[in-house]
Amino acid sequence: MADIGKSSFVVVANRLPVDRVVSIDGSATWRRSPGGLVTALAPVMRSVEGAWVGWTGSPDDAPDPFSTDDMDLVAVPLSAQEVGEYYEGFSNATLWPLYHDVIVAPEYHREWWDAYRRVNDRFAHAVAGVAAEEAVVFVQDYQLQLVPAILRRLRPDLKIGFFLHIPFPPTELFAQLPWRRQILEGLLGADLVGFQREGAAENFASLAERYTDATAESRQVRTADGRTVHVQSFPISIDVSEITDLVSDPDVLARSDHIREEVGAPKHMLLGVDRLDYTKGIGHRLKAFGELLAAGDLTPDEAVMVQVATPSRERVEAYQTLRDDIELQVGRMNGEYGTIGQPAVHYLHSSYERVELVSLLRAADVMVVTPLRDGMNLVAKEYVAARTDLGGALVLSEFAGAADELGDGAFLVNPHDIDGLKRTLLAAMRLDAAEATQRMKLLRERVLSNDITRWAESFLTSLRAA
Ligand code: ADP
Ligand code: F6P
Repeated sequence: MADIGKSSFVVVANRLPVDRVVSIDGSATWRRSPGGLVTALAPVMRSVEGAWVGWTGSPDDAPDPFSTDDMDLVAVPLSAQEVGEYYEGFSNATLWPLYHDVIVAPEYHREWWDAYRRVNDRFAHAVAGVAAEEAVVFVQDYQLQLVPAILRRLRPDLKIGFFLHIPFPPTELFAQLPWRRQILEGLLGADLVGFQREGAAENFASLAERYTDATAESRQVRTADGRTVHVQSFPISIDVSEITDLVSDPDVLARSDHIREEVGAPKHMLLGVDRLDYTKGIGHRLKAFGELLAAGDLTPDEAVMVQVATPSRERVEAYQTLRDDIELQVGRMNGEYGTIGQPAVHYLHSSYERVELVSLLRAADVMVVTPLRDGMNLVAKEYVAARTDLGGALVLSEFAGAADELGDGAFLVNPHDIDGLKRTLLAAMRLDAAEATQRMKLLRERVLSNDITRWAESFLTSLRAA
């Protein structure tokens, strides 16, 4: 067991930022998982020997604390039953749909809530054990909303920040939650609560006033015990330099050209890259594309759609139903409009290495991002970062957090409006080169001026000042 000391900076998230890699001889090592958050926090971690507390992603898996990439990793164990009740249940079948506009009906089960409380308590105790006196603790996302208050009771000396990566719903929806007061009080344990969008910060402040003993004045919430909780929006971003480096590699550009050939060298390659999640509007975009083919507005040799649907939360029933629905839809479209060697939709149910993903982004003429609700949507920003050539067009749902920043250069759509979506797809495909360049310049200015490093600095600066 590595000898890990106390840390003055601790990140706590549902998952650890590493994946276990098992070699042929059976020995296991850990590899840093791709992701902007860990990249952004790595310099802080390195400078203060920070710690990251999280779950490995496997049930009953509790390696001793260990160090990698200049940070200490502390694994929180979850039993198989807890994975079912805390992760798949309360986090992803109660909170996830509730916070995403109840696109599917949230399920409320008291035993799931009990598991959520118990697991949040375990995470908080793990942090309390590893945090140095007056350390800064940065709690991530909806799986851990009770951690701030539990931690404050255990360790009043700590500075606690919380960031919600997903939307925070309005009163009419949040009010459904049988444990709404407890969740709000959990979050109010933090010194700073951060959200993706202004509207989410407003929702939280007014809900805290309505359902707890706190009072809210603008962006400061005063708790019953006299503390001030700061509430603010911090739109998250991506590691722009990672993508810029990848697309400056001639092999990536060659791969990108090759992908276009492999899909039949169409005039327009449309691309969607999403976790296979009902929030992402995959069915809506397929429907719009299918209707364009059906009406003859597009032909399959003129435009193809590539849809990467990343496997996700596969034991949760709503995700299983979604997969069946999408695969039925893709099968029908290909049966209807495809020919031998030329499907209308290239459907890929797989995870990819970053280099392949970025090659795909660079190959696409039109990036189609149509979530029905999304906290931010990093793929939209990654597409913009990949277009160093100022080519391509972005079709973006107004219900993605990214629309706040990218609305000027993107083609904004309401994905529920299928006719509007069809018109927008055609407009994006028929864009003249000068306007395309102009739009992409605007998009790139926005993405390059707020990358993930800036986001992390901004959050941590506000937290230290809170
Ligand atoms: P969410 O957090 O809901 O999954 P985002 O678009 O904000 O959605 O972030 C998804 C992240 O996962 C992006 O960084 C994206 O590049 C990555 N990603 C999505 N699909 C794949 C895939 N098939 N293989 C590898 N990475 C993926
Ligand atoms: O952005 C929301 C989020 O749940 C993150 O917390 C997580 O990293 C990502 O989506 C993938 O979800 P999961 O950890 O459930 O696979």
